[in-house]
Amino acid sequence: MGKNAMYNISYGLYIVTSKTFKDNGCISNTAVQVTSSPNRVSVTLNKANLTHDMILESGVLTISILNERATFGLFERFGLKSGRDVDKFDGFTASRRTANGTLYITRGTNAYISGKVCQTIDLGTHTMFIFDVEESEVFNDVPSVTYAYYQANIKPKPKAVGTDATTGQTIWRCTVCGYEYVGEELPDDFECPLCHHPKEDFVKVVK
Ligand SMILES: Cc1cc2nc3c(=O)[nH]c(=O)nc-3n(C[C@H](O)[C@H](O)[C@H](O)COP(=O)(O)O)c2cc1C
Repeated sequence: MGKNAMYNISYGLYIVTSKTFKDNGCISNTAVQVTSSPNRVSVTLNKANLTHDMILESGVLTISILNERATFGLFERFGLKSGRDVDKFDGFTASRRTANGTLYITRGTNAYISGKVCQTIDLGTHTMFIFDVEESEVFNDVPSVTYAYYQANIKPKPKAVGTDATTGQTIWRCTVCGYEYVGEELPDDFECPLCHHPKEDFVKVVK
């Protein structure tokens, strides 16, 4: 079975935020409106993500909808690091608070949707959170970013296959999230520590 058909599903990209002992958020491509009356949206997160645990604990979340002016820096901050290791909002001023206490992102986004979880579905590796929309706002009409747009225009491109000439090190980059692994070969059971995609989704690159 070829996996490429999965890339032909068109996704948007979002920063999903929640709050418990601190503010945190992560990039996700899984937000979908599931019903309009009541107005409910689902978002599906990997159980390894801190944002996942925070939504489970607090029951509240916000999705900020990324637009085509979003910089790779936003993806690095929210999608390539875990709040378990860093404070993602340290020094980050482009955010405001919703009524439920979670933050929404005001730069590189065009709208936010915020609410309270009404149902969770355990999907094994992931949890699907379905939430009642309680608050939302559109800030601008810059088109929402799609996953394809991110891949083509925002994510830095791998330069060539081979070895880094300056360090002599081989680098493998995750084609899904951009995480880089340094080493000659990827172990067969390797899984991206950030987006959890398998070895098959890595390409060999030069820095
Ligand atoms: C383009 C892109 C799309 C992503 N999509 C998802 C997703 O749909 N679900 C998910 O759980 N993680 C997704 N991730 C990975 C998380 O954003 C990443 O693991 C993040 O570091 C988790 O942060 P946290 O531990 O602070 O929650 C994506 C990352 C990128 C860069």
